[in-house]
Amino acid sequence: MARTFYLTTPIYYVNAPPHLGHAYTTIMADTMCLYRRLAGDLAYFLTGTDEHGDNIARAAATGGQTPQAYADRISGAFRETWQRLGISHDDFIRTTEERHKRIVQAILQKLYDAGELYFGEYGGNYCFGCERYYTDKELVDGKCPDHQTPPTFIKEQNYFFRMSRYQEWLVRYIQERPDFIRPERYRNEILAFLRTPLEDLCISRPKSRLQWGIPLPFDANFVTYVWFDALINYVSALGGPGAETFETFWPHVQHLIGKDILKPHAAYWPPMLKAAGLPVYQHLNVHGYWTVNGQKMSKSLGNIAEPLPMQEKYGEAFRYFLLRESVFGLDSDFSEEALVARLNADLANDLGNLVSRVTTLLVNFAKGAVPRPGPETARESEVRASLEKARGEVHDAMEEFAFQRALIAIWELIGVLNRYVDSTAPWVLAKEAAKRERLDTVLYTLGESLRCLAILLAAFLPITSERIRQALGLAGTPISLDDLAWGKLPPGIRVLKASALFPRVMSAVETGSSGERAGARASTQRSGAQPRISLEEFAKVDLRVAEVVAADRVEKSKKLLKLTVRVGAETRTLVAGIAEHYDPAALVGKKVVVVANLESATLMGVISEGMVLAAVEGSHLALVILDRDIPPGAKVR
Ligand code: MSP
Repeated sequence: MARTFYLTTPIYYVNAPPHLGHAYTTIMADTMCLYRRLAGDLAYFLTGTDEHGDNIARAAATGGQTPQAYADRISGAFRETWQRLGISHDDFIRTTEERHKRIVQAILQKLYDAGELYFGEYGGNYCFGCERYYTDKELVDGKCPDHQTPPTFIKEQNYFFRMSRYQEWLVRYIQERPDFIRPERYRNEILAFLRTPLEDLCISRPKSRLQWGIPLPFDANFVTYVWFDALINYVSALGGPGAETFETFWPHVQHLIGKDILKPHAAYWPPMLKAAGLPVYQHLNVHGYWTVNGQKMSKSLGNIAEPLPMQEKYGEAFRYFLLRESVFGLDSDFSEEALVARLNADLANDLGNLVSRVTTLLVNFAKGAVPRPGPETARESEVRASLEKARGEVHDAMEEFAFQRALIAIWELIGVLNRYVDSTAPWVLAKEAAKRERLDTVLYTLGESLRCLAILLAAFLPITSERIRQALGLAGTPISLDDLAWGKLPPGIRVLKASALFPRVMSAVETGSSGERAGARASTQRSGAQPRISLEEFAKVDLRVAEVVAADRVEKSKKLLKLTVRVGAETRTLVAGIAEHYDPAALVGKKVVVVANLESATLMGVISEGMVLAAVEGSHLALVILDRDIPPGAKVR
């Protein structure tokens, strides 16, 4: 049944241009909304910019601009970035817009009239960077934990929201709803925070100190505290209570945020909504933080990763990396090296090769038109079962924002399809006229699988998905998850060879060291009879460190051992002709070197996904084993 869904990102501060962290949240939200729409749900997606407050006013002053001109510029940069990343948001809200200010003021007035706000004096430790008071307990060594600067003691009169009265209600609300705040670690964090008294929230700043804010409707001498103003964007963007969009989507609202802003969303926002007589949101989905090359991103370190240059350099591989490399809720590390490794292994190798092989087979052996399939065998049933499995796993993963799990499930299917190509060997079938029907079944199965794969990929890699569909002559047609029903690829449709979807990229380290290597090579005597190859040709061989986790004899074979090895996060099976030289038990735990991108082959009924390197001389054989510890998955060059 179609569901309604409203997903928001945080509205980003305009005191700095968009970076990797902002792109991460926005790309996840985009993927989720695209997926919901594919599932036939009505999904509304909001993002925007947070433009008031001291920090923005100061950043504008430093740049010699008015706050409004400054906010216009940076907000424009966010808007442009999302447009160039192909983000599919339905609305982009700015807190300086009239439609927002109006609703903030209406809510403030309502709370004031209901006695939820009071005027009082408060003296406390104020951090100007955070634009808020800190309690003694929150300070670390007497300093603001975020800015590492001592706060200033200020005493001033302000308006306060009676938030403390909602504490018990809030604790119960969270306790009764296990998936209200997720993943669970953040729910626990907030419940722990709520074990100490929740204080009333100071919701104003005197105009004498700050002008860049929304004036309180009942006291012109004050402006609204920036967080109180900002949170309301989620309501104001829908037009507020009574507006049609609001009535349709608000009951289904879910927020997506980084862990840095858990407290305002989990502790302030529900009481604010309750006090204003509005339903509380459905879920707060909290993700982890990215570091860059192991360090926190910061201007002073000069390591801020910007989304647009990444997108220009690596295309959709950037989006893929962010979704594939992070476990939702946990922190992750970004490096161009790691991105390139994923691009080469998952996108160029697994996916790119599959698409190019299948389309080439269809062009070469079916004259570029999808053939009508003949009877299916157990192999085709296996492909279909794998497709169904991937579909189910993607569905379950997306219920929990587990993008990584969804992609792993899709890549398992890609693995099955690549092995199906190997094991059915259409190029062999094509040699015998009598095997034509079988060949047609195999080719149809491959074409149809690609069509379905493109649908499964559509939310994660929309451009790549469309390119695959283009090769299958299906470009531009609307798609939905219902189209995953098998057999929708019409026989006769024209297929084009898909050029490399993701060309392999040499990593900075690979290209940087090529000069040295060339020098070493020139002074080395040639010892083999093989023709010389270029460095590029050698780089095609993906040599990796692999750890043997299990080793067994292959039934009925004197020579073969079946090795289960770990290569990075992946576990593979290899078949090696070393049974006469090694006791299987002695191999477990050894780190060996494998050719990771060798086409898979079936040996005595076991599929081998790679080759172990060994030195051979006459009847002697020695495995290449590492002489130092290095994690499995490391590249061997
Ligand atoms: N304006 C407030 C949010 C108000 S929402 C009502 C704000 N803005 S921000 O520009 O600082 O953006 C914070 C958000 O950006 C995080 O919650 C997260 O979504 C994203 N990220 C910023 N840096 C990040 C990382 N290093 N890693 C992952 N996401 C990060 O806070």
